[in-house]
Amino acid sequence: MERYGVFGNPIAHSLSPVIHAQFAKQTGLDISYDKILAPVDGFSSSAHSFINQGAKGFNITVPFKIEAFNLATQLSLNAKTAGAVNTIKVDGDELLGENTDGIGLVNDLVNNLDISLKNKVVLILGAGGATRGILLPLLKQSPERLMIANRTASRAIQLAKDFSDYGKTCGFSLEKVKHDPVDIIINATSASLDGQMPNIANGVANGAICYDLMYGEQTPFMNWAKANNAKMVMDGLGMLVEQAAAAFKFWTEKQPNTQAVIKHLRS
Ligand code: ATR
Repeated sequence: MERYGVFGNPIAHSLSPVIHAQFAKQTGLDISYDKILAPVDGFSSSAHSFINQGAKGFNITVPFKIEAFNLATQLSLNAKTAGAVNTIKVDGDELLGENTDGIGLVNDLVNNLDISLKNKVVLILGAGGATRGILLPLLKQSPERLMIANRTASRAIQLAKDFSDYGKTCGFSLEKVKHDPVDIIINATSASLDGQMPNIANGVANGAICYDLMYGEQTPFMNWAKANNAKMVMDGLGMLVEQAAAAFKFWTEKQPNTQAVIKHLRS
């Protein structure tokens, strides 16, 4: 049996074991996948002890993604640009660091929801770690323009600059979001966690696809999008399953059927 798991703190709420158990069943692989609560100041030693027990790989969630970036001995371009690692594959003495969050979001949009990003105007709310993690895969889809709006304008401006080699990016403050509708709005702020909605102009959601990276409940952003005539309102459950599938494939080279798992989790 091959051993995998997910590190986080807290971790009790994680759906990853359920998702990976279904992937294993679909692909006929004999794997175990555990939730591992690492102490806030003890990620590295917990990870090393898991590796010493023969683990083949693991996922990393809040608050350890930057420490996982530092733990990896090799990094993919995605992980490098994200500045964070959510998946590690143990390969002999090497720890291969990958970030599947952005790929997960793009695969959910493109494959599950049939939303092409090519030539679209995309507005991302937030300029923290979650935004940094999704920017490269989004830009690789060749949107016409990718705008980053953040409460603290300087962070959005800096991120836009950091990724300007990969596409047309710009950063500004939330108050500067115009009423003119855009094609896709992605809420990558942590405002939903506090039951809040980023303060932006109302018209902008009209006819737009509105996607919250959060899942598990109807967020204030999703309610706002519905009230503002969004074309489609989505939570991040599909992204969660897709980022898990990309990790599963990175470890095992097998592609699971994500739509069956998303359907199961929603029912
Ligand atoms: P994460 O790793 O989840 O991205 P983070 O790096 O702390 O976490 O970033 C949180 C993001 O949510 C930031 O863009 C933050 O805006 P600031 O940079 O101005 O702090 C944004 N955010 C959090 N609460 C918000 C709120 N109530 N309204 C608008 N933006 C909010």
